[in-house]
Amino acid sequence: DSEPLVLGIETSCDETGVGIVRGTTLLADSIASSVDEHARFGGVVPEVASRAHLEAMGPTVERALEQAGVAFDDVDAIAVTAGPGLAGALLVGVAAAKAYALALGKPLYGVNHLAAHVAVDQLEHGPLPKPCIALLVSGGHSSLLLVPDVAADVRPLGATVDDAAGEAFDKIARVLGLGFPGGPVIDRRATEGDPAAIAFPRGKYDDGTYDFSFSGLKTAVARWVEARERAGEPVPVADVAASFQEAVVDVLTAKALAACREHGVKDLLIGGGVAANSRLRALAAERCEAAGVRLRVPRPKLCTDNGAMVAALGAELAAAGLPPSALDLPADSALP
Ligand code: KG4
Ligand code: ZN
Repeated sequence: DSEPLVLGIETSCDETGVGIVRGTTLLADSIASSVDEHARFGGVVPEVASRAHLEAMGPTVERALEQAGVAFDDVDAIAVTAGPGLAGALLVGVAAAKAYALALGKPLYGVNHLAAHVAVDQLEHGPLPKPCIALLVSGGHSSLLLVPDVAADVRPLGATVDDAAGEAFDKIARVLGLGFPGGPVIDRRATEGDPAAIAFPRGKYDDGTYDFSFSGLKTAVARWVEARERAGEPVPVADVAASFQEAVVDVLTAKALAACREHGVKDLLIGGGVAANSRLRALAAERCEAAGVRLRVPRPKLCTDNGAMVAALGAELAAAGLPPSALDLPADSALP
């Protein structure tokens, strides 16, 4: 019981997440999602998300304390996502975290959402190897990071120049009339399709950078489907889903392994909502095995946005002896 008990709050997008950890031990992971309220718009509506966070915050904190079997007074520190994310959504979490820290007289740690996606793996697979390469793919971000030390030194190698990988899944699902969010349903439909049926473009495949681009692929898939519909021919949904998915995961895994090779790193971590994708996991496992790289992917519930990841990084910052944030900590939607 010597390690600090940290409560983490996540509100950067549409999940209100509250997690509680002791060191690298997960004690509670409570989530309220407003995803159903956004589904009819085909994407996250910032104003709706902010209001939902406000309503869910108190009850989600109470559920987490109950799950962990601890009282508010037992909490040693509060951690909160300070950015990047939706400005109004972030503000709700940051304001709540400040109120809790002030009321309890405990330190407040503002954390970076992307670093938290990396730190969460410690709750599942133990201390992170130093360094590791992290591929973070979700509806809001697609980044490759070199991570010498998740508490103090996270270096961006590349990121998407247009759409995030999950955003591409969501948009293609809309083109195919499969609903929102698109990732899980495309993943499912793709299992019945042929990934080599249609040769969709792989953006920035050989450009020598660690950046990604998915908007050209999105346009190519939309045009292909429109051409079929105009010709009055049926759209082979499973083949389109499988071929599109293959184009995305091919580029993601190729660049992640190129980064491991260039930096002489033997551990690859994949996180974010798209890390739940079964084909991404399979292809990454295959290519890591061939390259002698160890692969770490947290279970799906820890890959998507949650409060435990914020608590995990807060605990890491506290353990590293880093100074807490001031109580005027800003919410920064564009935090690098
Ligand atoms: O990390 P996350 O919950 O929230 C963001 O920060 O965006 O990620 C959500 C994204 C959505 O775009 C969703 O379509 C995608 O992750 N996703 C998937 C799968 N499950 C969720 N994408 C591909 N395959 C999946 N199985
Ligand atoms: Zn995220």
